[in-house]
Amino acid sequence: MKILVTGGAGYIASHTNVLLLERGYEVVAVDNLSNSCEESIKRVEELTGKKIAFYQGDCRDEELMTKIFQEHKIDAVIHFAGLKAVGESCRIPLKYYDNNMNSNMVLVKVMEKFGCKRLVFSSSATVYGVPKKLPLTEDSPLSVTNPYGATKLLGEQFFGDISRSDPDWHVMLLRYFNPVGAHESGRIGEDPAGIPNNLMPYVSQVAVGKLKCLSVYGNDYPTKDGTGVRDYIHVVDLAEAHLAALQHIDEHQIGIYNVGTGVGYSVLDMVKAFGKACGHEIAYRIAERRSGDVAECYACCDKAKKELGFVAKKNLDDMCRDLWRWQSENPNGYHA
Ligand code: NAD
Ligand code: UFG
Repeated sequence: MKILVTGGAGYIASHTNVLLLERGYEVVAVDNLSNSCEESIKRVEELTGKKIAFYQGDCRDEELMTKIFQEHKIDAVIHFAGLKAVGESCRIPLKYYDNNMNSNMVLVKVMEKFGCKRLVFSSSATVYGVPKKLPLTEDSPLSVTNPYGATKLLGEQFFGDISRSDPDWHVMLLRYFNPVGAHESGRIGEDPAGIPNNLMPYVSQVAVGKLKCLSVYGNDYPTKDGTGVRDYIHVVDLAEAHLAALQHIDEHQIGIYNVGTGVGYSVLDMVKAFGKACGHEIAYRIAERRSGDVAECYACCDKAKKELGFVAKKNLDDMCRDLWRWQSENPNGYHA
């Protein structure tokens, strides 16, 4: 089977590409490298001994997307391409709606033209907005708290409408919780541009000495230690969920799944666990709450287990150990 992976040089895509190639899928990747670099593609090829047909370009470029489908008989698409920085999406909403929504539309247009109607979409726990009841199940109420989240929710609605319009379409919407960690080889991992927005890349850069001190955004939430609680999932487990989604895609016209572990850890739990993995304490200070953050967010993962046979296997120590290996062996990410 030949899979087109959009955003194929990115963090989650690179880990998914390894599994796809190891399991005998062929991978075609497209990425405009707006938040990644081609080195991740090379490293995946190095790890697996297999080639990726890589196209540098934009998913909104209909001509390029048509060329890809002309040159390859694509069986299914995993659509990772998207911008994901919540803060930036509030400052420059047009950039997010343009990139994330127009990519979806051009992709579907070209897929329809070539009769390729299997799609796995990267959605997010952000579509649940402020949780009213935990754990979050797939039928918990949906809402939007920022433009990034709006593009994910609209994306879900768009792909849902497409799949309902034609029984040949099969769409899987995967709602990721908080992906962390790296491949156990230490060769691929998350390589954020500039100062990281997310907790674990920040913590790992403090550990390696690139940043001085973590700001813990709030210790007065109604949680066990007052800091925010999230459902962190190892990125290799998350990658596995895509393989499971592909295997089950023909059984569903539209499948919606939470992809997490079902376990919530606080910011201080994460700081402590990472300190254990890297062998020294992580410097932190308590700061103001970050606007838009929720106190607690974790998934009910029963549906993915029941329908896809997917269960996350890696624990917090695995996440921290693998992230530390990646960060310490590649202090500047993919850049020498
Ligand atoms: P990432 O930035 O590492 O990967 C996204 C890739 O898409 C990047 O390589 C970027 O260059 C590329 N890209 C963006 N717009 C493009 C376009 N128009 N055309 C071609 N390429 C384009 O991010 P990631 O963490 O791997 O996330 C992958 C997907 O999962 C995104 O859609 C993101 O919104 C979603 N997601 C991520 C998280 C998370 O915390 N990492 C959580 C929930 C959902
Ligand atoms: N945090 C800090 N200090 C930091 C960064 C984060 O204390 O420097 C705290 C946050 O306040 C929060 C927790 O760490 O309590 C996790 O924050 P992240 O930024 O790592 O992750 P979020 O849960 O805020 O958001 C992530 C993605 C979103 C996605 C969401 C749900 O960034 O795109 O998970 O999938 F929508």
